[in-house]
Amino acid sequence: MPSVSMTVNGRAVTGDVESRTLLVQFLRENLSLTGTHVGCDTSQCGACVVHVNGESVKSCTMLAVQADGAEVTTIEGLAKDGELHPMQEAFRENHGLQCGFCTPGMVMSAVDLLQKNPNPDEGEIREWLEGNICRCTGYHNIVKAIQTAAADMKG
Ligand code: FES
Ligand code: FES
Repeated sequence: MPSVSMTVNGRAVTGDVESRTLLVQFLRENLSLTGTHVGCDTSQCGACVVHVNGESVKSCTMLAVQADGAEVTTIEGLAKDGELHPMQEAFRENHGLQCGFCTPGMVMSAVDLLQKNPNPDEGEIREWLEGNICRCTGYHNIVKAIQTAAADMKG
């Protein structure tokens, strides 16, 4: 059984996995980081988005062994010292979540968007979120949340 080592939310972790183990399974089942969700089996919904070496990735489309040696951040790694990340706070303030199932992936995708483009317009936000499906909110409040976070993060 291959052994994998990576840094997850700043913590060095190691585990034995099957070669077919997906990164999302490793996070949820080996590390009990269940904030990363699985919402489909077709790589469409984006509930499983995490950051691998700073880039958003659907963790259901990547094998755990492919993340060997990587820096991984999950939704559990965003809040610091008991303070929500500005994106999490903006989702809360703008009612960007209802059931919350899609929220971890939405937040992780949105944080990556602002890393690449700190000032996206509405069209750019909607286009970026094409790989994230929300079954509850109709996207308007999610877009508003990302615009709020962009403004807050500029200070
Ligand atoms: S669970 Fe990964 S895209 Fe749906
Ligand atoms: S808030 Fe329920 S799926 Fe998006």
